[in-house]
Amino acid sequence: MESLQLDRGMENSQVSTIRSYYQLHAKLYQATRWTFLFGRKRMLDALQLPPASDKTILEVGCGTGHNLNGLAKRYPNLQLIGLDISPDMLQVAAKKLMRFSRRILFLEKPYSPGAWQLPSKPDVVLFSYCLTMINPGWEAALQRAHDDLEEGGHIAVVDFHDSPYRFFHRWMGFNHVRMDNHLLPLLKKHFDPTHLEVHQAYGGLWSYLIFVGKKKQGV
Ligand SMILES: C[S@@+](CC[C@H](N)C(=O)[O-])C[C@H]1O[C@@H](n2cnc3c(N)ncnc32)[C@H](O)[C@@H]1O
Repeated sequence: MESLQLDRGMENSQVSTIRSYYQLHAKLYQATRWTFLFGRKRMLDALQLPPASDKTILEVGCGTGHNLNGLAKRYPNLQLIGLDISPDMLQVAAKKLMRFSRRILFLEKPYSPGAWQLPSKPDVVLFSYCLTMINPGWEAALQRAHDDLEEGGHIAVVDFHDSPYRFFHRWMGFNHVRMDNHLLPLLKKHFDPTHLEVHQAYGGLWSYLIFVGKKKQGV
């Protein structure tokens, strides 16, 4: 696979807001996110891929490539596609994953229904702390994942779930994150759960979920 494809044609206000946000945050990302983006390794484990798996995995909102790097190191035959709207985040990812460039394709695009097609149908679509940032549009992104997946394919999600505290909802909203238990009902509508965990973080300040599910037919 080749390296980086750009598409600036589909810009909208959600996309430009997030792009600007990550212009600054891309520089701080790796040093800070381990303190609150919990469950990413557990999500990869929950996929239960055999060591020689040669599946195609798409990560939507791949950011700086944390998960793609983990997957590429663990599974030498996987084909990987990393999609993101932030060129600053993708630049970090492309550098980090340079040694795997033969089997990684990066796409700079918003993940929404549209004219463009993926080069191949993925067996797995990953969303890691991305869906709660697609506001508006998370429902359409889930529908697109369902449509893009091979029959029998899987979705894997790790993300913020909920918080009992209004100030925390407001703070996360300021950081472009919605987290009011909105993801799980629609995930269950489109995908049959094969793995589901909900955990508390920082003594219950918020909860996060890990969901793996198999594509349902006829949804
Ligand atoms: C919190 S970061 C997570 C990055 C990575 N998945 C991880 O777990 O470290 C969210 C990422 O989603 C991307 N993103 C937000 N909205 C998007 C959209 N509509 N389409 C594609 N990527 C999007 C952002 O640019 C950012 O890189």
